[in-house]
Amino acid sequence: MDQLRFDGRVAVVTGAGGGLGKEYALLLASRGAKVVVNDLGGARDGVGQSNFADAVVKEIKDKGGVAVADYNSVVEGEKIIKTAIDNFGRIDILINNAGILRDRSFLKLSDQDWDLVHAVHLKGAYKTTHAAFAHFKKQNYGRIIMTSSNAGIFGNFGQTNYSAAKLGLVGFSYALALEGAKYNIKVNTIVPTAASRLTEDILPPDMFEAMKPNLIAPVVAYMVHESFEGTAQVIDSTLGYASKVHFVRSVGTALKKKPSDQVTIESVKEFWPKVMDMNGAKHLDKIAEVTLDLVERLQEFEDRAKLDGDKNSYWKKY
Ligand code: NAI
Repeated sequence: MDQLRFDGRVAVVTGAGGGLGKEYALLLASRGAKVVVNDLGGARDGVGQSNFADAVVKEIKDKGGVAVADYNSVVEGEKIIKTAIDNFGRIDILINNAGILRDRSFLKLSDQDWDLVHAVHLKGAYKTTHAAFAHFKKQNYGRIIMTSSNAGIFGNFGQTNYSAAKLGLVGFSYALALEGAKYNIKVNTIVPTAASRLTEDILPPDMFEAMKPNLIAPVVAYMVHESFEGTAQVIDSTLGYASKVHFVRSVGTALKKKPSDQVTIESVKEFWPKVMDMNGAKHLDKIAEVTLDLVERLQEFEDRAKLDGDKNSYWKKY
Protein backbone atom coordinates (compact mmCIF):
# COMPACT_ATOMS: atom_id res chain seq x y z
CA MET A 1 0.00 0.00 0.00
CA ASP A 2 1.19 3.54 -0.79
CA GLN A 3 2.32 5.49 2.24
CA LEU A 4 -0.48 7.62 3.67
CA ARG A 5 0.92 11.15 3.80
CA PHE A 6 -0.16 14.56 5.07
CA ASP A 7 1.87 16.86 2.81
CA GLY A 8 0.29 20.32 2.62
CA ARG A 9 -1.91 19.62 5.63
CA VAL A 10 -1.77 21.58 8.87
CA ALA A 11 -2.57 19.79 12.11
CA VAL A 12 -3.24 21.13 15.59
CA VAL A 13 -2.67 18.64 18.39
CA THR A 14 -3.69 19.89 21.83
CA GLY A 15 -1.85 18.65 24.90
CA ALA A 16 1.00 17.45 22.64
CA GLY A 17 3.85 18.19 25.04
CA GLY A 18 3.88 14.59 26.26
CA GLY A 19 1.99 11.30 26.34
CA LEU A 20 -0.36 10.46 23.47
CA GLY A 21 -0.45 13.94 21.95
CA LYS A 22 3.31 13.97 21.51
CA GLU A 23 3.14 10.68 19.56
CA TYR A 24 0.35 12.04 17.33
CA ALA A 25 2.40 15.17 16.62
CA LEU A 26 5.59 13.23 15.85
CA LEU A 27 3.83 10.78 13.54
CA LEU A 28 1.88 13.41 11.58
CA ALA A 29 5.01 15.56 11.18
CA SER A 30 7.02 12.53 9.99
CA ARG A 31 4.39 12.10 7.23
CA GLY A 32 4.59 15.68 6.00
CA ALA A 33 2.04 17.60 8.11
CA LYS A 34 2.92 20.97 9.58
CA VAL A 35 2.04 20.68 13.24
CA VAL A 36 1.01 23.08 15.98
CA VAL A 37 2.25 21.43 19.17
CA ASN A 38 -0.07 22.88 21.80
CA ASP A 39 0.47 22.34 25.50
CA LEU A 40 -0.24 24.47 28.52
CA GLY A 41 2.46 22.53 30.33
CA GLY A 42 0.75 22.22 33.70
CA ALA A 43 0.77 19.38 36.20
CA ARG A 44 -1.51 16.41 35.78
CA ASP A 45 -4.21 18.12 37.88
CA GLY A 46 -4.11 21.17 35.60
CA VAL A 47 -2.12 23.39 37.96
CA GLY A 48 0.77 25.48 36.61
CA GLN A 49 2.21 26.20 33.22
CA SER A 50 5.47 25.60 31.31
CA ASN A 51 6.91 25.40 27.82
CA PHE A 52 7.35 21.66 27.48
CA ALA A 53 5.87 21.74 23.99
CA ASP A 54 9.27 23.15 22.95
CA ALA A 55 11.01 19.78 23.32
CA VAL A 56 8.50 18.14 20.97
CA VAL A 57 8.89 20.93 18.40
CA LYS A 58 12.66 20.51 18.62
CA GLU A 59 12.39 16.76 18.11
CA ILE A 60 10.18 17.27 15.03
CA LYS A 61 12.54 19.88 13.58
CA ASP A 62 15.61 17.76 14.29
CA LYS A 63 14.01 15.03 12.17
CA GLY A 64 13.40 17.48 9.31
CA GLY A 65 9.74 18.19 10.07
CA VAL A 66 7.83 21.45 10.48
CA ALA A 67 6.23 22.43 13.78
CA VAL A 68 5.51 25.36 16.02
CA ALA A 69 4.84 25.44 19.76
CA ASP A 70 1.73 26.94 21.34
CA TYR A 71 1.32 27.32 25.10
CA ASN A 72 -2.31 28.44 25.32
CA SER A 73 -4.90 26.62 27.35
CA VAL A 74 -7.52 24.81 25.28
CA VAL A 75 -10.05 26.86 27.23
CA GLU A 76 -8.89 29.65 24.92
CA GLY A 77 -8.88 27.36 21.91
CA GLU A 78 -9.35 30.20 19.43
CA LYS A 79 -5.80 31.34 20.23
CA ILE A 80 -4.43 27.89 19.35
CA ILE A 81 -6.19 27.94 15.98
CA LYS A 82 -4.84 31.46 15.41
CA THR A 83 -1.32 30.07 15.92
CA ALA A 84 -1.98 27.63 13.06
CA ILE A 85 -3.34 30.35 10.76
CA ASP A 86 -0.61 32.87 11.64
CA ASN A 87 2.19 30.37 11.09
CA PHE A 88 0.91 28.11 8.33
CA GLY A 89 -2.03 29.96 6.78
CA ARG A 90 -4.56 27.16 7.26
CA ILE A 91 -5.76 24.27 9.42
CA ASP A 92 -6.95 20.85 8.22
CA ILE A 93 -6.75 18.59 11.24
CA LEU A 94 -7.64 19.12 14.89
CA ILE A 95 -6.87 16.51 17.51
CA ASN A 96 -8.50 17.43 20.83
CA ASN A 97 -6.26 15.53 23.19
CA ALA A 98 -5.41 17.82 26.14
CA GLY A 99 -6.53 16.42 29.45
CA ILE A 100 -6.17 16.53 33.21
CA LEU A 101 -7.30 14.38 36.12
CA ARG A 102 -8.64 15.41 39.49
CA ASP A 103 -9.75 12.05 40.86
CA ARG A 104 -11.68 11.95 44.17
CA SER A 105 -14.47 9.77 45.47
CA PHE A 106 -17.73 11.59 44.87
CA LEU A 107 -18.37 13.23 48.24
CA LYS A 108 -14.77 14.46 48.42
CA LEU A 109 -15.07 16.07 44.99
CA SER A 110 -15.01 19.89 45.12
CA ASP A 111 -16.73 22.24 42.70
CA GLN A 112 -13.26 23.13 41.46
CA ASP A 113 -12.45 19.47 40.73
CA TRP A 114 -15.65 19.21 38.72
CA ASP A 115 -15.30 22.56 36.93
CA LEU A 116 -11.62 22.28 36.00
CA VAL A 117 -12.00 18.80 34.53
CA HIS A 118 -15.02 19.93 32.53
CA ALA A 119 -13.24 23.12 31.47
CA VAL A 120 -10.24 21.31 30.01
CA HIS A 121 -11.95 18.29 28.45
CA LEU A 122 -15.34 19.57 27.36
CA LYS A 123 -15.13 23.33 27.11
CA GLY A 124 -11.56 23.12 25.80
CA ALA A 125 -12.61 20.77 23.00
CA TYR A 126 -15.62 22.98 22.30
CA LYS A 127 -13.62 26.23 22.11
CA THR A 128 -10.84 24.79 19.96
CA THR A 129 -13.22 22.95 17.66
CA HIS A 130 -15.51 25.96 17.34
CA ALA A 131 -12.63 28.11 16.09
CA ALA A 132 -11.36 25.41 13.71
CA PHE A 133 -14.81 24.53 12.37
CA ALA A 134 -15.21 27.97 10.75
CA HIS A 135 -12.10 27.30 8.64
CA PHE A 136 -13.13 23.72 7.89
CA LYS A 137 -16.53 24.85 6.66
CA LYS A 138 -15.06 27.58 4.45
CA GLN A 139 -12.59 25.19 2.81
CA ASN A 140 -15.00 22.26 2.69
CA TYR A 141 -12.54 20.01 4.47
CA GLY A 142 -11.69 19.10 8.02
CA ARG A 143 -10.75 16.22 10.26
CA ILE A 144 -11.54 16.34 13.98
CA ILE A 145 -10.73 13.91 16.76
CA MET A 146 -12.24 13.94 20.24
CA THR A 147 -10.61 11.96 23.03
CA SER A 148 -12.94 9.97 25.23
CA SER A 149 -12.15 7.27 27.79
CA ASN A 150 -13.40 3.92 28.98
CA ALA A 151 -13.99 5.76 32.26
CA GLY A 152 -16.72 7.68 30.43
CA ILE A 153 -18.16 4.72 28.58
CA PHE A 154 -18.19 2.26 31.48
CA GLY A 155 -17.67 4.53 34.50
CA ASN A 156 -14.71 4.40 36.86
CA PHE A 157 -14.55 4.69 40.64
CA GLY A 158 -13.31 8.09 41.79
CA GLN A 159 -13.75 9.66 38.36
CA THR A 160 -17.31 11.00 38.28
CA ASN A 161 -16.09 14.38 37.02
CA TYR A 162 -13.82 12.88 34.36
CA SER A 163 -16.30 10.17 33.30
CA ALA A 164 -19.06 12.74 32.78
CA ALA A 165 -16.82 14.98 30.69
CA LYS A 166 -15.41 12.10 28.64
CA LEU A 167 -18.81 10.69 27.69
CA GLY A 168 -19.92 14.24 26.94
CA LEU A 169 -17.29 14.32 24.21
CA VAL A 170 -18.90 11.31 22.53
CA GLY A 171 -22.27 13.10 22.36
CA PHE A 172 -20.47 16.21 21.11
CA SER A 173 -18.79 14.22 18.31
CA TYR A 174 -22.03 12.50 17.25
CA ALA A 175 -23.89 15.79 16.94
CA LEU A 176 -21.02 17.66 15.28
CA ALA A 177 -20.52 14.84 12.76
CA LEU A 178 -24.05 15.53 11.52
CA GLU A 179 -23.34 19.25 11.17
CA GLY A 180 -20.03 18.62 9.41
CA ALA A 181 -21.29 16.00 6.98
CA LYS A 182 -22.08 18.24 4.04
CA TYR A 183 -18.78 20.12 4.35
CA ASN A 184 -16.56 17.01 4.26
CA ILE A 185 -15.76 17.46 7.94
CA LYS A 186 -15.32 14.12 9.69
CA VAL A 187 -15.63 13.98 13.47
CA ASN A 188 -14.43 10.84 15.23
CA THR A 189 -13.45 9.80 18.73
CA ILE A 190 -10.51 7.83 20.11
CA VAL A 191 -10.80 5.90 23.36
CA PRO A 192 -7.16 5.27 24.21
CA THR A 193 -5.50 3.26 26.93
CA ALA A 194 -1.79 4.01 27.15
CA ALA A 195 1.12 4.52 29.47
CA SER A 196 1.41 8.19 30.34
CA ARG A 197 1.64 10.37 33.42
CA LEU A 198 -2.15 10.15 33.68
CA THR A 199 -2.04 6.37 34.07
CA GLU A 200 1.30 5.72 35.81
CA ASP A 201 -0.38 5.01 39.16
CA ILE A 202 -3.48 3.37 37.64
CA LEU A 203 -2.13 0.71 35.27
CA PRO A 204 -0.25 -2.31 36.69
CA PRO A 205 3.54 -1.89 36.04
CA ASP A 206 3.87 -4.71 33.45
CA MET A 207 0.89 -3.39 31.48
CA PHE A 208 2.22 0.16 31.77
CA GLU A 209 5.44 -1.00 30.07
CA ALA A 210 3.57 -2.62 27.17
CA MET A 211 1.00 0.10 26.53
CA LYS A 212 3.12 2.44 24.52
CA PRO A 213 1.24 5.54 23.30
CA ASN A 214 2.95 5.21 19.91
CA LEU A 215 0.81 2.09 19.31
CA ILE A 216 -2.29 4.31 19.24
CA ALA A 217 -0.87 7.10 17.07
CA PRO A 218 -1.31 5.24 13.72
CA VAL A 219 -5.01 4.67 14.51
CA VAL A 220 -5.56 8.38 15.14
CA ALA A 221 -3.44 9.35 12.13
CA TYR A 222 -5.51 7.11 9.87
CA MET A 223 -8.73 8.66 11.19
CA VAL A 224 -7.50 12.17 10.28
CA HIS A 225 -6.22 11.22 6.83
CA GLU A 226 -8.02 12.62 3.78
CA SER A 227 -8.80 9.07 2.60
CA PHE A 228 -10.74 8.35 5.80
CA GLU A 229 -14.45 8.54 5.10
CA GLY A 230 -15.77 7.47 8.50
CA THR A 231 -17.53 9.90 10.79
CA ALA A 232 -19.19 9.65 14.21
CA GLN A 233 -17.06 6.60 14.92
CA VAL A 234 -15.81 5.84 18.42
CA ILE A 235 -12.68 3.72 18.33
CA ASP A 236 -11.13 2.03 21.34
CA SER A 237 -7.43 1.36 20.93
CA THR A 238 -4.57 0.01 22.99
CA LEU A 239 -1.61 -2.37 22.60
CA GLY A 240 -1.80 -2.23 18.80
CA TYR A 241 -5.44 -3.33 18.82
CA ALA A 242 -8.53 -1.34 17.81
CA SER A 243 -12.27 -1.89 18.03
CA LYS A 244 -15.43 0.12 17.49
CA VAL A 245 -17.57 1.17 20.42
CA HIS A 246 -21.29 1.55 19.77
CA PHE A 247 -24.34 2.07 21.93
CA VAL A 248 -26.91 -0.68 21.47
CA ARG A 249 -30.56 -0.77 22.48
CA SER A 250 -32.43 -3.83 23.62
CA VAL A 251 -35.39 -4.95 21.52
CA GLY A 252 -37.47 -3.85 24.49
CA THR A 253 -41.15 -4.42 24.98
CA ALA A 254 -44.50 -2.71 25.19
CA LEU A 255 -45.26 -2.32 28.90
CA LYS A 256 -48.70 -3.93 28.75
CA LYS A 257 -50.29 -7.07 27.39
CA LYS A 258 -52.80 -5.49 25.02
CA PRO A 259 -53.42 -1.94 23.73
CA SER A 260 -56.43 -1.35 25.98
CA ASP A 261 -54.44 -2.11 29.14
CA GLN A 262 -52.94 0.69 31.24
CA VAL A 263 -49.21 1.06 31.82
CA THR A 264 -48.77 0.85 35.59
CA ILE A 265 -45.82 0.62 37.94
CA GLU A 266 -46.71 -3.06 38.32
CA SER A 267 -46.79 -3.70 34.57
CA VAL A 268 -43.39 -2.01 34.26
CA LYS A 269 -42.09 -4.39 36.96
CA GLU A 270 -43.65 -7.35 35.18
CA PHE A 271 -42.05 -6.52 31.84
CA TRP A 272 -38.68 -5.38 33.24
CA PRO A 273 -36.79 -8.62 32.39
CA LYS A 274 -37.78 -8.08 28.74
CA VAL A 275 -36.61 -4.45 28.89
CA MET A 276 -33.25 -5.72 30.15
CA ASP A 277 -32.94 -8.61 27.67
CA MET A 278 -30.08 -7.74 25.32
CA ASN A 279 -30.66 -10.67 22.97
CA GLY A 280 -31.05 -9.30 19.45
CA ALA A 281 -30.12 -5.78 20.62
CA LYS A 282 -30.16 -3.23 17.83
CA HIS A 283 -27.21 -1.24 16.53
CA LEU A 284 -28.91 1.99 15.59
CA ASP A 285 -26.87 4.71 13.90
CA LYS A 286 -29.09 7.75 13.58
CA ILE A 287 -31.67 9.44 15.78
CA ALA A 288 -34.21 9.03 12.95
CA GLU A 289 -33.59 5.26 13.02
CA VAL A 290 -34.27 5.26 16.75
CA THR A 291 -37.69 6.85 16.26
CA LEU A 292 -38.54 4.70 13.25
CA ASP A 293 -37.55 1.55 15.11
CA LEU A 294 -39.86 2.46 18.00
CA VAL A 295 -42.76 3.24 15.67
CA GLU A 296 -42.25 -0.12 13.92
CA ARG A 297 -42.25 -1.99 17.20
CA LEU A 298 -45.41 -0.30 18.43
CA GLN A 299 -47.05 -1.04 15.10
CA GLU A 300 -46.09 -4.72 15.45
CA PHE A 301 -47.56 -4.70 18.94
CA GLU A 302 -50.80 -3.24 17.65
CA ASP A 303 -51.00 -5.65 14.69
CA ARG A 304 -50.49 -8.57 17.02
CA ALA A 305 -53.17 -7.25 19.36
CA LYS A 306 -55.62 -6.88 16.47
CA LEU A 307 -55.00 -10.50 15.49
CA ASP A 308 -55.76 -11.41 19.10
CA GLY A 309 -59.07 -9.53 18.82
CA ASP A 310 -58.19 -6.42 20.81
CA LYS A 311 -59.84 -3.65 18.79
CA ASN A 312 -58.77 -0.78 21.02
CA SER A 313 -56.06 0.89 18.91
CA TYR A 314 -52.85 1.94 20.60
CA TRP A 315 -52.68 4.96 18.29
CA LYS A 316 -56.24 6.11 18.91
CA LYS A 317 -55.77 5.79 22.61
CA TYR A 318 -52.52 7.84 22.89
P1 NAI B 1 -0.71 13.43 29.45
O1 NAI B 1 -0.88 14.07 30.77
O2 NAI B 1 0.62 12.91 29.10
O3 NAI B 1 -1.15 14.42 28.29
C1 NAI B 1 -2.11 15.41 28.43
C2 NAI B 1 -1.48 16.73 28.04
O4 NAI B 1 -2.49 17.75 28.04
C3 NAI B 1 -0.39 17.18 29.02
O5 NAI B 1 0.82 17.36 28.33
C4 NAI B 1 -0.95 18.47 29.60
O6 NAI B 1 0.05 19.43 29.89
C5 NAI B 1 -1.87 18.93 28.52
N1 NAI B 1 -2.90 19.85 29.01
C6 NAI B 1 -3.59 19.76 30.17
N2 NAI B 1 -4.43 20.78 30.30
C7 NAI B 1 -4.27 21.56 29.21
C8 NAI B 1 -4.87 22.74 28.75
N3 NAI B 1 -5.80 23.38 29.50
N4 NAI B 1 -4.50 23.24 27.57
C9 NAI B 1 -3.56 22.64 26.82
N5 NAI B 1 -2.93 21.51 27.21
C10 NAI B 1 -3.28 20.98 28.38
O7 NAI B 1 -1.80 12.29 29.35
P2 NAI B 1 -2.27 11.31 28.17
O8 NAI B 1 -2.51 10.01 28.79
O9 NAI B 1 -1.36 11.40 27.02
O10 NAI B 1 -3.71 11.93 27.82
C11 NAI B 1 -4.08 12.40 26.55
C12 NAI B 1 -5.59 12.34 26.45
O11 NAI B 1 -6.02 10.99 26.43
C13 NAI B 1 -6.33 13.01 27.60
O12 NAI B 1 -7.48 13.66 27.09
C14 NAI B 1 -6.76 11.84 28.46
O13 NAI B 1 -7.88 12.14 29.25
C15 NAI B 1 -7.04 10.80 27.40
N6 NAI B 1 -7.02 9.43 27.88
C16 NAI B 1 -5.85 8.82 28.20
C17 NAI B 1 -5.86 7.51 28.63
C18 NAI B 1 -4.61 6.78 28.90
O14 NAI B 1 -4.70 5.55 29.13
N7 NAI B 1 -3.45 7.42 28.88
C19 NAI B 1 -7.11 6.78 28.83
C20 NAI B 1 -8.28 7.48 28.39
C21 NAI B 1 -8.22 8.77 27.95
